[in-house]
Amino acid sequence: MSLIKLITFDVHGDDRGSLIALEQYQNIPFDIKRIYYIFDTKPGVARGFHAHKNLQQVAVCLKGQCRIMLDDGQRTDDVLLDSPAKGLLIDGLKWREMHDFSEDCVLMVLASEVYDESDYIRDYDDFKRAVKNENSPVK
Ligand code: TYD
Repeated sequence: MSLIKLITFDVHGDDRGSLIALEQYQNIPFDIKRIYYIFDTKPGVARGFHAHKNLQQVAVCLKGQCRIMLDDGQRTDDVLLDSPAKGLLIDGLKWREMHDFSEDCVLMVLASEVYDESDYIRDYDDFKRAVKNENSPVK
């Protein structure tokens, strides 16, 4: 099964333009405790390169495009986010990387927890160990 879980948002459009509403437990499957956005990304830059121990996120590319790669320790999948009407749900223990930002990209991320550096796994070998422990926890 692909690691890419996309949520398609309803677009309320009329002759004035378009509007999308994001609501916790409606189209976002968690309490939204934090919102951040990434923009003005310099050419050729990739970001992320970490996993989270306990965090759910939905990434929405509000403008432009970028590619997000997810890795669960067994497989990797990637997706081009290029529409404000699509959200990528990132849950569970997944290494994530963001690549190929267009110059105009504005990537908004909704998160289920406030920022907590201790929730990060920033080393890929530590991530692989965490996956192993999750699959065969010490009794
Ligand atoms: P960083 O984790 O390097 O971003 P990315 O995962 O996109 O590569 O975060 C960049 C800086 O922003 C770092 O100093 C931590 C800070 N930060 C916050 O203060 N709050 C947040 O919610 C996030 C995501 C980052």
